[in-house]
Amino acid sequence: MPLPLLAANDLPDLAGRIAIAPGCRIVYDPEYEEGAAVPLDPFALPDQTCAAEFGPWRSPAPHSVNFIGLFPLPNVLDCSFRSALLQVSTYKEVMAILDTPEFHSFCNNVTRTLTTVLNVDGPIELKGISMKAPGMSTVTVDNSSGLRVGLHLDSNDRKSVYERDQCRNRLSINLGLGSRYLLFQNLTVGEIIDLLGKKGMRDIHPQICSGIARLFRATAPEVPVLRLRIDPGEAYVAPTENIIHDASTIGSTQNDFSLSLLGNFTIKDRAN
Ligand SMILES: [Fe+2]
Repeated sequence: MPLPLLAANDLPDLAGRIAIAPGCRIVYDPEYEEGAAVPLDPFALPDQTCAAEFGPWRSPAPHSVNFIGLFPLPNVLDCSFRSALLQVSTYKEVMAILDTPEFHSFCNNVTRTLTTVLNVDGPIELKGISMKAPGMSTVTVDNSSGLRVGLHLDSNDRKSVYERDQCRNRLSINLGLGSRYLLFQNLTVGEIIDLLGKKGMRDIHPQICSGIARLFRATAPEVPVLRLRIDPGEAYVAPTENIIHDASTIGSTQNDFSLSLLGNFTIKDRAN
């Protein structure tokens, strides 16, 4: 079963939010790690079945972090921290403004605002502000190699591949001036393991998620990649340790800024 794809009730242009690519491909580019995969272009508007998957904001299951949600946080844009952020052009400058009272005030405001639509079970971990170049088909870089990793699974919680539905989910807010995108394949790690098992691959190492992602794209490259548009002042929540994903700044002409948080974010019933 695909994860529920949920939109806050006041989100504009819902029909235009999703595009779909027919699968993924191995990319041969010196900026990417060997064997990395990216969506197989072109992206197209989804058929009606896929478009209808966008459901109303609701709790998919009690205390479940396994959903993909999109909602606006418009009041986070109009503040001194964001104005300062839009002026920076280097990562060093980004780091410098994180050590200011304006940033801490901004984070408090974000936390207050997001809890109007989400429950937060336990602490929130601030992952920081990310600055990415515009026009990138995928943005995630392995800090140790400096290379882009392509579609991948996160591994912050260090859970085995059989416990990925218990990981925290990620909340990411677009603080830039242009749209950004969440790319993902709507299958959980558990479903991927089942699919691989049906193809005779049952010897899965429980701790090697990158191996699963690679095995999966080699054996099922035709699984579609969805692209979800996140406009400035909007946030997505997604279980990025349980679905293969990346972000993209394709089509944008200005630096991309986002704030990422990890936590157990679940949906408040009757929000908005
Ligand atoms: Fe990621």
